[in-house]
Amino acid sequence: MIKSNGQEKPLPNGIIPFHAQVAGHIYEPGTKTIGILQDRKDDSVIYKSFGKPACGIRETKFYMSLEEEAEVEVDEDCQPQRQYEDEEKREILKELKSFIPSFYGHVKFNFNGSEYDFLKLENLTRGIQLPCVMDIKIGQRTYDPLADEEKIKSEESKYYECKKGLGFCIPGFQVYDLANKETKKYSKNFGKKLTPETMPNALKYFLNIQNNESNKVHVLLILKQLYKIQKWCQKQKYFELFCSSILIIYDASILNNNLLKPNDEWVHVKMIDFAHVFPIEDKSRHDTNYIFGINNLVQMFESFV
Ligand SMILES: Nc1ncnc2c1ncn2[C@@H]1O[C@H](COP(=O)(O)OP(=O)(O)OP(=O)(O)O)[C@@H](O)[C@H]1O
Ligand SMILES: [Mg+2]
Repeated sequence: MIKSNGQEKPLPNGIIPFHAQVAGHIYEPGTKTIGILQDRKDDSVIYKSFGKPACGIRETKFYMSLEEEAEVEVDEDCQPQRQYEDEEKREILKELKSFIPSFYGHVKFNFNGSEYDFLKLENLTRGIQLPCVMDIKIGQRTYDPLADEEKIKSEESKYYECKKGLGFCIPGFQVYDLANKETKKYSKNFGKKLTPETMPNALKYFLNIQNNESNKVHVLLILKQLYKIQKWCQKQKYFELFCSSILIIYDASILNNNLLKPNDEWVHVKMIDFAHVFPIEDKSRHDTNYIFGINNLVQMFESFV
């Protein structure tokens, strides 16, 4: 058990709240909210608690379906063992896998007298010295087809202006502010006050590009990755991603020192949170809700360079 202020916190040995979580459900001792956890000694993975069982099961199934479908098993003669009715779908899923964290399965922890379920995922902030992390929730609509009246109402009222005008909102971020040499965290309360007019400045602050002479090399690297995700969304007709986010991460220490490091080591742009992903039944449709948001996000980033 971890001790803090003389009180026992009900987490298993060696497991602690994930230090670089910027949004979503955050661990609250003494409640059912577990949020995202990590191993004290091994920062290569994180454990995302199921939260509502239906959400955890849906997200686990989503990751598992990609594992199964995107891989082609070959036999001794290197011939595919399974015939894919839809080769295009396999390509789409394979590409999607490159935009999301690696998935290492479903695990259970016993603590506080109960058993809890988690997804074991790649920690995208691993190896980043001064992590700047922003969660950008995509979509004008952030409730799924199973939402009841109450859920629809509560989702529609949250981040109203940004979601309506831009198709994205900011439920949280942290930035290592190069000017003041300190890490600052901003919760959903900050994001809820943003409007389409104030959003560009919030993003510039997160990117440490408020001055004209700021280094913008990371902005170009982020854009490059956003273009790939955008292209994928415009193509795919298999999923509707409700309430899903794009997680942008960069290392302010690299920016600060003008160090040369391969971009895949200090800038990451990944899609996360698939608890509300649903298949598109009618194959003539695209996920227009997600496309609207990512198009606007790309446009805003383009205006910075
Ligand atoms: N693979 C990952 N690597 C690093 N950080 C992550 C990863 N997945 C999630 N996070 C962190 O945890 C936060 C919450 O993640 P996520 O949205 O998946 O959880 P959630 O509890 O379902 O949130 P919500 O309230 O939106 O349902 C993210 O904003 C990010 O800071
Ligand atoms: Mg989320």
